[in-house]
Amino acid sequence: MLEAQHSARVSPPRQAAWLRRSVLGGLLAIAGASAPVATALAADNSTADAIAQYREMLADGNPAELIEMRGEELWKTPRGPNNVSLAQCDLGLGPGVLKDAYAQLPRYFPDAKRVLDAESRIVECMVNLQGFKRADVIKQPFSREGQDPTDLESLTAYVAGQSRGAQIRVPQSHKEEKEAYARGQKIFYYRAGPYDFSCASCHGSDDKRIRLQDLPNLTKPAAARQAFATWPGYRVSQGALRTIQWRMYDCFRQQRMPELNYGSQASVDLITFLGVMANGGKMDAPGLKR
Ligand code: HEC
Repeated sequence: MLEAQHSARVSPPRQAAWLRRSVLGGLLAIAGASAPVATALAADNSTADAIAQYREMLADGNPAELIEMRGEELWKTPRGPNNVSLAQCDLGLGPGVLKDAYAQLPRYFPDAKRVLDAESRIVECMVNLQGFKRADVIKQPFSREGQDPTDLESLTAYVAGQSRGAQIRVPQSHKEEKEAYARGQKIFYYRAGPYDFSCASCHGSDDKRIRLQDLPNLTKPAAARQAFATWPGYRVSQGALRTIQWRMYDCFRQQRMPELNYGSQASVDLITFLGVMANGGKMDAPGLKR
């Protein structure tokens, strides 16, 4: 029943246009009233506007910056059974090269013989360099409500931050990279689950909304760029930093699909598809999210 509502709610008009106009009219009528009142009224108008405002308020201080700093410390501190730092981790541009690396992931890694996204590669470095056990590293990749960010979240925030302003250039030269893209595209359009949803059911056309949230049309480069460029992001509604692996996991859940495993082939393929769609965009992560 809840679910029926859920699907029925895909794309209702968020607010009647007349209501928006009357709010605007009201604002004009009280022009001269104090700015905060006007701001509060405007914020009610749409969730997207409210986030835009919140973003402005935090212009110089996304809470994600603290998490980036925590990630930097984790990156540089000798840890694990081997007691080494991640300084020699190769994110695709050579050992220790962090700058712009996130903007060019996922990519094929000859040593791993497969395509890896940023988060899966960080896991690999923690296993191969620091000697951690993979099962331990990915046991709880996402922080729960009210918890501190996990090590993986912090490290990912740090790594992504090192690509701020970089052009997104997810490579498609290796055969495996092309195959990852093709599989990701297939998953994106594959309808399944109890409601026969695909990713495209929610993200394949313009002006879709679910509850109060705008659903980006990820089949268009502009929206794909905007989305890819801003993950990982600090999610205001959860008071937590979330990564693109989390975004895939949570959308799989919304699609009522089986649980998506962290770093699984399907997750890497989807991120590859989105990344290639976003090519040409400019990284601006960690971003700020609803
Ligand atoms: C039932 C609808 C639904 C389905 C199906 C769905 N999503 Fe989502 N998706 C959402 C919602 C809701 C959001 C969050 C919007 C918000 O928080 O403002 C979202 C957000 C996203 C974002 C972040 C966009 C941004 O600009 O930050 C990406 C990327 C994404 N989804 C990808 C996918 C992929 C890939 C799939 C298929 C595995 C998928 N979604 C399936 C509803 C869905």
